[in-house]
Amino acid sequence: MRKIFAVVLLLVLLVACRPQAPMQPVVQPPVTQPVVQPISEPVKQPVSKPAEQTAPSGQPQTVKVDIVGFKYVPASVKIKVGDTVTWTQVDSVQHTVTIVSGPESFDSGLLKAGQTFSYTFTKPGTYSYKCTPHPNMRGEVIVE
Ligand code: CO
Repeated sequence: MRKIFAVVLLLVLLVACRPQAPMQPVVQPPVTQPVVQPISEPVKQPVSKPAEQTAPSGQPQTVKVDIVGFKYVPASVKIKVGDTVTWTQVDSVQHTVTIVSGPESFDSGLLKAGQTFSYTFTKPGTYSYKCTPHPNMRGEVIVE
């Protein structure tokens, strides 16, 4: 009986003294970086076409603004009552034209690449607008 006890004790000691398995290094899951959209260089303003300059006064005009490289180009346009501004969204990221302040309020909603949004301004004043997902994107329409 005493011998069995000794054997059992020896086994217990062997198990207790068995060297611990080395600590496995904790494998960190790779940190996924947020996808940063490259900001392309602002598109150079095309020289205004002579047709726009020589258009008969009093005729409603359509002014084009590009949304490209997280910018409204041009950021500021001056038009007359009755004129229309057409925004053309070029970026792969979606943008909006959302009035922040002005005589009238409107919101284009999210515009995908290739989509356009037009608005005819019937009240004079300064319309400040922004992009809802990117509030740093700012533009204005001055209606005389
Ligand atoms: Co935007």
